[in-house]
Amino acid sequence: MIQLIKQNIVSRDLSYDITISSSIIEEKLNYYESSNLNPLYIVDENISKIYSKLLPYDKDRVYIFTANEKNKTFKELIKIEEFLSKNNALRGSTLIALGGGITGDITGFAASIFMRGIPFIQIPTTYLSMVDSSIGGKTGINFDDAKNIIGSFYQPKEVIIDINFLETLNDEEFLNGFAETIKVAAISDIDFFNLIYDNYQNIIDRDQELLLKIIEQSCVLKSNIVKEDTYETNKRMLLNFGHTLAHAIEIDSDNQITHGYAVALGMIYEMKYGVEKGYIKEEAYIKILDMLKRFNYQTEYKINNTDIFLSALLKDKKSTSKGITLVLTDENMVGKIVEKIDAELLLNIFND
Ligand SMILES: NC(=O)c1ccc[n+]([C@@H]2O[C@H](COP(=O)([O-])OP(=O)(O)OC[C@H]3O[C@@H](n4cnc5c(N)ncnc54)[C@H](O)[C@@H]3O)[C@@H](O)[C@H]2O)c1
Repeated sequence: MIQLIKQNIVSRDLSYDITISSSIIEEKLNYYESSNLNPLYIVDENISKIYSKLLPYDKDRVYIFTANEKNKTFKELIKIEEFLSKNNALRGSTLIALGGGITGDITGFAASIFMRGIPFIQIPTTYLSMVDSSIGGKTGINFDDAKNIIGSFYQPKEVIIDINFLETLNDEEFLNGFAETIKVAAISDIDFFNLIYDNYQNIIDRDQELLLKIIEQSCVLKSNIVKEDTYETNKRMLLNFGHTLAHAIEIDSDNQITHGYAVALGMIYEMKYGVEKGYIKEEAYIKILDMLKRFNYQTEYKINNTDIFLSALLKDKKSTSKGITLVLTDENMVGKIVEKIDAELLLNIFND
C-alpha cells in the first residue's frame, strides 16, 4: 500500500496541504459531503463519465465542464459564475475542481472572483495537473489568442492527489504532463534529473511506487520555488523553462500540439538558442535533448505561420518591458533567466 505524503506550502500569505496518495479520493469526497463546507463541484466531463460513482447524489451541485482550450474562455467562466449564483454559493461554499489543468485553472479563477473569493479545493486528475497546475495558485482563462492571459493568483485550500486517477489516463496525456516533471528537474535538481533519466522505462511502465516518489519530488520542487516567489517576480520565472516558445507552438499548431509536448519542444529550441548565443554549453542542450528523446517526445517543429507564431510570442505574458524572457539551464541543471530576447532571432532557430 502506498503511503500518504503531505507537503505543506507555507509562505507569507499561503499555507495549504498537498496530499499525495492512492485510493484516498472516496474518503475525501465523503468527508466534504458530510462537512459544513457546502461543496459545489466543477467536474471534467470525461471524469464525470469514468468516475460517475464519485459524484454526489445531488447533481444540481455539479457543473460538468468540457475541458479543452477553446472552452477555457469567458463564455464558460460566466456559466460557472451562473452556476455558483444559482446554487447560492455564499461565503460558506467551497468550490471543488475535479479534473485536469484546464478544469482546475478555470475553476480557480471562477472561485477567485465570485464574491471576491470563495474557498476552492484542487483535485487534479491528470499527471500534468498533479505535478504542476494544481500547485502554486495560478488560475486563468485564454483570451484573444493568448493563453492564460486573464487570471489571478488564488491559492486553493488544499490539493488532493490520488494517483489512482492515472490508471485511466492514456499514455499521450501521461507524457503530456511528464514534460513538466522533466522541466522542474532540469532547472533545479540534477539528482532528480538523473533518476528520471536512469529509470525512464519504469516510468513509462508506470511503476506505482516510483511514480509516487516522482510526483512527490515534482511537487516539492515546485512548491519550494512558489514559496520563495509566489507572484512570479523573480525565481518563479524559472518554472517557465520551455514555456516562452511552448505557448506560441500551441497557438501556431492550433492546439494540435498540447501543452506538455509544446513545453518539450520549447525546452529544446530555447536551449538551442542558448547555445547559439553562448549563454550555455552545448553539453547542457544535449542532456535535455537526450532526456526528451528517451521518452519519445517530438523533438522537431516547423512553424506553420510565422505571423501567428510571432504575435503569440509577443502577446505572451513572459513578454514584458524587458522584452521576451527565456529560461535556460546549465549542464548542472541550474536554471537561469535571460531577458531581452530578439524575437526574430528566436524564430530563426526553427530554420537551422
Ligand atoms: N495553473 C498553472 O500553473 C498551470 C501550469 C501548467 C499548465 N497549466 C494549464 O493546464 C492545462 C493543461 O492541463 P491538462 O494537461 O491536465 O489538460 P486537460 O485538463 O485538458 O486534460 C486533458 C484530457 O484528459 C482528460 N482527463 C482528465 N483526467 C483524466 C483521467 N484521470 N482519466 C482519463 N482522462 C482524463 C480530460 O478530459 C482531457 O480530455 C493548460 O490549459 C495549461 O495552460 C496551468
